[in-house]
This record gives sequence, C-alpha cells and structure tokens, in this order.
Amino acid sequence: MRREKFLAPSILAGNHAKLHDSLMLADQDGRKWIHLDIMDGHFVPNLSFGPQTVSDLRKSSSLFFDVHLMLQQPDRYIEPFIEAGADLISIHLEPEYDHSRALAKISAAGIQNGIVINPDTPAHSLLPYLEQVDLILFMTVNPGFGGQKFIYEVLSKAKEIDEIRKKENLNFLIEVDGGVNPEHVKSCLNAGVDILVAGTAYYKLDKLGRKHFADLFENAYLKDFL
Ligand code: DX5
Ligand code: ZN
Repeated sequence: MRREKFLAPSILAGNHAKLHDSLMLADQDGRKWIHLDIMDGHFVPNLSFGPQTVSDLRKSSSLFFDVHLMLQQPDRYIEPFIEAGADLISIHLEPEYDHSRALAKISAAGIQNGIVINPDTPAHSLLPYLEQVDLILFMTVNPGFGGQKFIYEVLSKAKEIDEIRKKENLNFLIEVDGGVNPEHVKSCLNAGVDILVAGTAYYKLDKLGRKHFADLFENAYLKDFL
C-alpha cells in the first residue's frame, strides 16, 4: 500500500518575530503540513511558544497543523492546543502520565493523535499503542533545538515498526524529526517514513531548493514509472 508522503516544514526554524511569514512561505510552497514545536523548559532544555501563537497562526492558514508537545506534563495542555486549532497532537512516551488516556482524549476531540520517542527509547516501548495511534514520531535528534545532526541509527526502529505495520495491516503514519536534510530522504523512504519534518534545512534553502527537497520525498515514487 502506498501512503501519501509529506514534507512538513518545522516553523521552529523560522524567525520568531515573523512566524506568520514562515507559515506563509510553507503555504505558498504548496506544503500540506506544518510542524509546530512546543517546549516547556523541563522535558527539554528550551522554550518555544504556546497555544496563543498556534491560535493566531491558525487564522491565516489551512495547512495541517502537526503540533509536537515536548512537555513534562502533556496531558495538562491537550485542551488548549485543541482549541488553538491543532489537527494532530503528538505526545512523548518518556514522561510519566497516563499515555493511553491522553491519546484517547486527543482522538475524542476529533483530531489525530501521535506518540513520540526519543533516540534512546526502544521501539518495543511503542507496542502497547500501535492500535491506538494515528502517527508515530521518531526523534532523529535529542529534542530541544533545531539544527542538530541527524542520528541514522533511529531509522532501524522506524523500519522495525514499519514491518509490524505491514504485517498487522495497521494504519498509523511514521514521521521523523530532527536534523533532516535532502541527503537523508532515501534512507527515510527505505525505512517506511511517511512524514519528514525539516526545519533548518528547509528554511535555509531558496524556493527552487525547497521544491527539490519536497519533490525528492513526496514524489520519489514517480521515478519508478519514468
Ligand atoms: C527538535 C524539534 C524539531 C526541530 C527540527 O527538538 O522537535 O522539530 O524543529 O529542526 P531541524 O530540522 O533544524 O533539526
Ligand atoms: Zn518537532
């Protein structure tokens, strides 16, 4: 089964005094998804922005808002981000809270849910959630900052979960996030990745470069028929 592939620009890499412009750039480039990183200074050693920013951005775009919560207590912030207009909320597996309940709360609001694991968290820890989630996000850097180096080893976990997805006929999407640039596209496609998040690499390219980057991932399958 061929799933649609999306390159999701990460707005974290934009100019935070002009996030609206970074959103419009992705929109005008024809992207379908935008990735929004929420950091609390506890789960990760950095702060980004909150529901007010997401809500204000929501007013200018109909892009799919992929909201990645890097929070110690994500279950406390699900409602504000739903109200802010998230289309998908992903929450980390590492902090202690009722993960299943939080995922169910996101789904009950009629939006998609996702579970995220850090590079050092094993793939088997995802097994209890495979039937409950719309998306699994594999961090390919330790979360907190843009512009870090892509950790290739994470792709073996994605591949392992993709194999289970095929075998069990499951429908969640597989996303990777952190340090992604065009040279990683092929390995990500081979590992079964559906959504490629890219911040620094995307926003530093010119229009043609961004189109090439997105085409490499989103339209790679066309090459099989040319
Ligand atoms: C890292 C964030 C990423 C980040 C990716 O903590 O979750 O979404 O924005 O940025 P790059 O592509 O610059 O690594
Ligand atoms: Zn992210």
